[in-house]
Amino acid sequence: MRFSVVAFLVIYLTASTASDYCYDEGQCDPYAWGDSYPTCHPLLEAHHSPINLEDGVTRDEALEALELKGFDSVQKGQWRLHNDGHSVILEVGRGMMVSGGGLPGTYITLQLHFHWGSLATNGSEHTIHTQRFPMEMHIVNMKSNYPNLTSAMEDPSGLAVLAVFMDVNYTENTNFTPIIKALSAVPHRGQSTNVKPFALANLLPLDHMGLYYRYHGSLTTPPCSQVVEWTVYEVPVQISRSQYEQFATELFSTEEEEEDVLLQNNFRHVHPTFSRVVYASREAQLLAATACPAAAPCSGLLLLSLLPLLLGNLDPRS
Ligand SMILES: *[C@@H]1O[C@H](CO)[C@@H](O)[C@H](O)[C@H]1NC(C)=O
Ligand SMILES: *[C@@H]1O[C@H](CO)[C@@H](O)[C@H](O)[C@H]1NC(C)=O
Ligand SMILES: *[C@@H]1O[C@H](CO)[C@@H](O)[C@H](O)[C@H]1NC(C)=O
Ligand SMILES: [Zn+2]
Repeated sequence: MRFSVVAFLVIYLTASTASDYCYDEGQCDPYAWGDSYPTCHPLLEAHHSPINLEDGVTRDEALEALELKGFDSVQKGQWRLHNDGHSVILEVGRGMMVSGGGLPGTYITLQLHFHWGSLATNGSEHTIHTQRFPMEMHIVNMKSNYPNLTSAMEDPSGLAVLAVFMDVNYTENTNFTPIIKALSAVPHRGQSTNVKPFALANLLPLDHMGLYYRYHGSLTTPPCSQVVEWTVYEVPVQISRSQYEQFATELFSTEEEEEDVLLQNNFRHVHPTFSRVVYASREAQLLAATACPAAAPCSGLLLLSLLPLLLGNLDPRS
């Protein structure tokens, strides 16, 4: 009897490991997720994430800065930081809401987590001009009329994720200290620790909140559900190299009693946009087809681009 319970446990644990996902090369790398999670297969015309962002995205003048409720204040209670073997996740209670900026509803903020590379590689999920930033932060929000993620994930716009690139410079960014200090308490998969709430706005590119890109996509981890309204901010936040290294070298994808495997390069490959439209916010500057910086209003640019025609130069190469 005891033996069969043990045998069952061994089979169960083996099976659950086999169907779990990871970022290592071989059988469990992101390209192979579809074998265990059919909804992760990047079929033709599927709306998967992340994507590469390129020049020429469509301007939508109605996309203004999102309304972030509660992000400025310090929430009551305790937040919880958790290493799930794929990332570190900060669960932030239920006091914050996201709306506006063209989102189809009001969303309640659930958690944020990070994607990173290694000492030698950058690890953002989205890319700009195929370039990866060192890190990317995802703030995950669920449409507020749903009681839980399971039901929100039946709605194609059930989730709204705010993506913030993180770049590295020489200055320590103390706004990230509460999270980075807590990393040492959750080095292994399955570990959690309390984090005293702080104003979440501190982690955002506050001077550039009107500059972003919007598209419809998926979760970037299994089950890869195509239920996400993505907001990808154009301007990264900055942390120091040593802060970056604490993500890249002090966290493990393995449990305490297992042999250590560093948790690194936890990003999914980029997917084709297919016929999806990527929108630029009203103020986005980098990639919009009709970017009109204040210094060079659109009417002026239009006139300049028409000049060869007006002058009768019909050379198609011009
Ligand atoms: C990685 O990030 C650094 C720092 O932002 C940047 O200078 C470099 O070009 C990036 N490398 C790649 C291969 O994208
Ligand atoms: C999620 O909410 C739905 C609808 O109220 C409910 O039927 C379901 O049991 C809930 N699922 C979980 C995992 O709580
Ligand atoms: C480096 O990051 C700090 C902290 O976010 C920021 O204040 C500073 O402007 C950045 N420096 C450069 C050169 O980007
Ligand atoms: Zn993510």
